[in-house]
Amino acid sequence: MRPALLLPALAATLLAAALTLPAAAQPTIPEPPVRYDTDLLPASFHADRRARLAAELPSDAAVLVFSNPARTRENDVGYSYRQNSSLYYLTGTHEPESALLLVPGGVDVDGQRVTEVLLAPDRNAFTETWVGRRFGPERAQRELGVERAVSNSRLGELLRRVRADGRRIHIEPLPQGVEPGGLAAQLDTLRRYATVPVVTGNGYVRQAMGMILSVNDAEGFARAQRIASGRVRASDFTDPLLRDAAAAFLAAPDFGAWQRWKAEHMAGVADVAALPRTLAQLRAVKTPEEMRLMRRAVNASVAGHVEMMRSTESGMTENDVQAIGEYVFRRHGSEAVGYGSIVGAGENSTILHYVDNRRTIQDGDLVLVDMGAEYHGYTADVTRTFPANGRFTPEQKAIYDLVLAAQQAGIEACRPGQPFTAPGQAATRVIAQGLRQLGLIRTDEDVRNFFMHGTSHYLGLFVHDVGDYGALAPGMVLTVEPGIYIKPSPNVDPKWWNIGVRIEDDILVTDGAPENLSVGAPRTTDAIEALMQQRGVGNATFERR
Ligand code: GLY
Ligand code: MN
Ligand code: MN
Repeated sequence: MRPALLLPALAATLLAAALTLPAAAQPTIPEPPVRYDTDLLPASFHADRRARLAAELPSDAAVLVFSNPARTRENDVGYSYRQNSSLYYLTGTHEPESALLLVPGGVDVDGQRVTEVLLAPDRNAFTETWVGRRFGPERAQRELGVERAVSNSRLGELLRRVRADGRRIHIEPLPQGVEPGGLAAQLDTLRRYATVPVVTGNGYVRQAMGMILSVNDAEGFARAQRIASGRVRASDFTDPLLRDAAAAFLAAPDFGAWQRWKAEHMAGVADVAALPRTLAQLRAVKTPEEMRLMRRAVNASVAGHVEMMRSTESGMTENDVQAIGEYVFRRHGSEAVGYGSIVGAGENSTILHYVDNRRTIQDGDLVLVDMGAEYHGYTADVTRTFPANGRFTPEQKAIYDLVLAAQQAGIEACRPGQPFTAPGQAATRVIAQGLRQLGLIRTDEDVRNFFMHGTSHYLGLFVHDVGDYGALAPGMVLTVEPGIYIKPSPNVDPKWWNIGVRIEDDILVTDGAPENLSVGAPRTTDAIEALMQQRGVGNATFERR
């Protein structure tokens, strides 16, 4: 008998066997976790943040916050994904192609009145086979604790309903390193979808965002139209609202036609300033749950800086030092660095955000290391500067001690009620006076020749975190990071050349004295020289291949 003829008989036998099994023997398929960490921000934290945001906004407002776009590195390989900090802050979701719709006045979803809807990507067998598990709306609702989660393909439907109820939709544009709501952000968004002619499925959320953001600015419209010309057709849009918008956008011979469409269909849609401002004010003051994660990030960073100081010796490359630091960060649980690691030795210590990290470190170099670990979204930002051979020269020490004194004055100024500029003013005064005494400058104005950056920024979910840069208040975390950078120049005695020093710590403003979270990484020249006598995790011998 040919094997194929056996199969029906075999199948019938198996079926009969299955039918006679008791129901209890049917195996339940276990649901492995989507995320393994057990110390993530609790659902109650995100719920509280949403409630506070809602309380700050007008009663007729609706809020729409999008995920960051996933970005392609090349071909079928992407950059490692990082969530939009505000969406993470409000929901805890780590997935792209998501959005949060907050409607404090309520919106009907499938016959149920709700105030918050997470738009989540549908489960996707291809993604889950190749990349990893995904929540899907049902599990996102259960595990993230949002009132309702639905498929992201329903964004257009929900927006239409919210607008029909007369709500004003506040949108947080994607953080692109430009002013929120600014022209560049709009253009960037438009450019992205304009080069992807058919956007469906997982591209849906961004497609909608592009259309909505594009209504804000006349010049943006004109430029975007030029960029998009010929590359997008109205029929590329699956949602009727967006198809209408695309038709108006692409066909309008003048801005007036676009405005008429906007007046008719999207009245009161966009208020791009209020939401980012309110979110920034909320995010600037850290809760105890956030401080727990910030301390993890800072402690991992301190451990990394200590090991980098112990391990560094001339003959290593800047890249070697970076590898040692990042190894230690990860051994302390960190998932990523909060920004590109800066390891500049010798002449590179005078380049503020040097990230090539390819030079071989020489005896006599100063090594400036600005590196911070990220932990569950929160980043540290710590800089230490030390001599490659373990001993500061007199000139290196003179500059170092001046920066340290300036930093100490800056940290002292981190008191509640002080303006955000107070640490910078205090640090700059000390550096100006010191550089005059060393004969490096003649007037205080010349201080910017050698100290050409700001002293402080907020720190949190982003290295240069959001906030209103008004008065300092308890719970705010900011850096204090003065520096002096001396490049070779005919106007400067060669003994000072290639000395670059920055010292950067992460400071928590409290009701009383400021708390230096990163104080565990030695800062005085004596403490650094003593530490560098020791060997570190990076000194194990290995053969370079
Ligand atoms: N690491 C970037 C900065 O210090 O602002
Ligand atoms: Mn910084
Ligand atoms: Mn830094």
